[in-house]
Amino acid sequence: MPKSTISRLAMFSALSALAFAAPTTAQSVVGSGVPASTVSNSTERPIAFADQAPADAGLILLMQSAELPDIPALSPAERSAVETAIASADFKGKAGTNLKLRGIGDRPLIMLAGAAQPEKAGPEDAGPEDAGLDWKSAAGSAVQKLMKEGSGLAIVGAPDAAAMAEAALGLDLGQYRFDRYQTDVETAPAAQSVTIAGPSASAAQALWNNRYKHLADSVRMVRDLQSEPANTLYPQSFVDRVSAAFKGVPNIRIEVLDEAAMRKMNMGAIVGVGQGSPRGSRMMVVSYTGGSGAPLALAGKGITFDTGGISIKPNKGMWAMKADMSGAAAVMGATLSLAKSRASVNIVAVAALAENMPGANAQRPGDVVRTYGGKTIEILSTDAEGRLVLADAVQYVADRYKPFALVDIATLTGSVGRAVGDQYAGLFAREDEIADRLLKAAEDSGEHLWRLPLHPAYAKAIRSDIADVKNSGVTDAPGASAGAHFIGYFVDKSMPWAHLDIAGVDWNNSAKPLTPKGASGFGVRLLDQLARDWTAR
Ligand code: BES
Ligand code: MN
Ligand code: ZN
Repeated sequence: MPKSTISRLAMFSALSALAFAAPTTAQSVVGSGVPASTVSNSTERPIAFADQAPADAGLILLMQSAELPDIPALSPAERSAVETAIASADFKGKAGTNLKLRGIGDRPLIMLAGAAQPEKAGPEDAGPEDAGLDWKSAAGSAVQKLMKEGSGLAIVGAPDAAAMAEAALGLDLGQYRFDRYQTDVETAPAAQSVTIAGPSASAAQALWNNRYKHLADSVRMVRDLQSEPANTLYPQSFVDRVSAAFKGVPNIRIEVLDEAAMRKMNMGAIVGVGQGSPRGSRMMVVSYTGGSGAPLALAGKGITFDTGGISIKPNKGMWAMKADMSGAAAVMGATLSLAKSRASVNIVAVAALAENMPGANAQRPGDVVRTYGGKTIEILSTDAEGRLVLADAVQYVADRYKPFALVDIATLTGSVGRAVGDQYAGLFAREDEIADRLLKAAEDSGEHLWRLPLHPAYAKAIRSDIADVKNSGVTDAPGASAGAHFIGYFVDKSMPWAHLDIAGVDWNNSAKPLTPKGASGFGVRLLDQLARDWTAR
């Protein structure tokens, strides 16, 4: 047989393998086939509510000031010993401060945890009303300092049910660990229970069961997804894990598009990003129907690993690109929290999932791709891939699910971190209304946003010579704004739309009270809050 026939035959069988691809969700694991671990993270401290602190528990005492609150857990003698310690340590109860005491009464320890926030020296209208008590952070930072404390704990000093439930939320968020790959530790973090004790235990328990527990569980799922390395987390395994989390949750519908389905719908942008990887791209759409009217759409960037593709990144810090799916995880987490707490809202969440790899079949700089709605993109950098997968995702969700508004969330640019650091995510919006709603939800949830410019002049950064738009290029436009403009190009002007760039906040380099070092789970609390406050009229 002549050589050319052989290669033509080979090509034919490769093509037919593509055409007769396995059903929607099938995905063989490409890799060593040896799972890195078969266990889950070590057990966290379970949370309970009670009127009284158990007699043998270490106490975490929430403090509003230097004054010891009136709590039944302390005998008069213990009280005066703690007061002496407060005075000699000059403890003021400020948020973020702790005082750890031992040898008082029979308690294994007493830890004072400050909850008093300073008046904010912050943006525009910071005033006295912004000062307050942060029960969440007080509990979260205390539990982090007691990670190795092998006794049961009780949190006391929260004055009412709301404060008690917030302390529980802070504790649960703060005690997160990702240790399923650590086989060589002598002592696992402590797993003895924590009792939140106070005057309205049953009301606090109800608040926890109905809302905060689901929020904390959803943040945990998101952090697990972010932390999971890319040899175990790829588009189809993301779909599997998120589907498992939604299993049995009422009023949920899940739609998964594989590459063949996306190709049929001309989603050349997302399929193009994933074409260098043997692990197929996916579009996962989860809708939750808990209310009436049009849904709020949430679209998340889900790059399970971003090498940069042919425009390859330098190795320094590249490992962190395993978390380049943080936006996709956040939209799923927020939806899970809303659904499990039976919020009366309608949500459609879409995760645009792909692995950005170099390879013989990878897309090249200079390639032109066609998107779902027919608009075309010239690829100047294969490393500006987040905006590409989102281009198809936002067009698809707007067209098929007819939302009343659309928020996308993405680890889109290094530029946003250089602009606003690690305390704020960047917010971009064409109209003030949606921006204001998001800023309000940020304030209420504690996940902060800073609005950045979407000036029309920056739109020229995405004009292409040969296609409708290009995905990057040298201009004077700030990088994060150019990225926002690019996504906005694919969202109809009549659609209220906002873009959140979370590349500076998805990963903590050091611990914060509600987030240990590592995956932050940013966006779950923010989007959960936004959805509760904003439904279609
Ligand atoms: N995933 C990165 C952005 C990123 C950087 C996230 C650091 C988290 C931490 C994104 O895909 C990217 O590579 N962006 C480029 C855009 C550029 C090529 C236009 C960037 O920020 O340099
Ligand atoms: Mn990139
Ligand atoms: Zn990326």
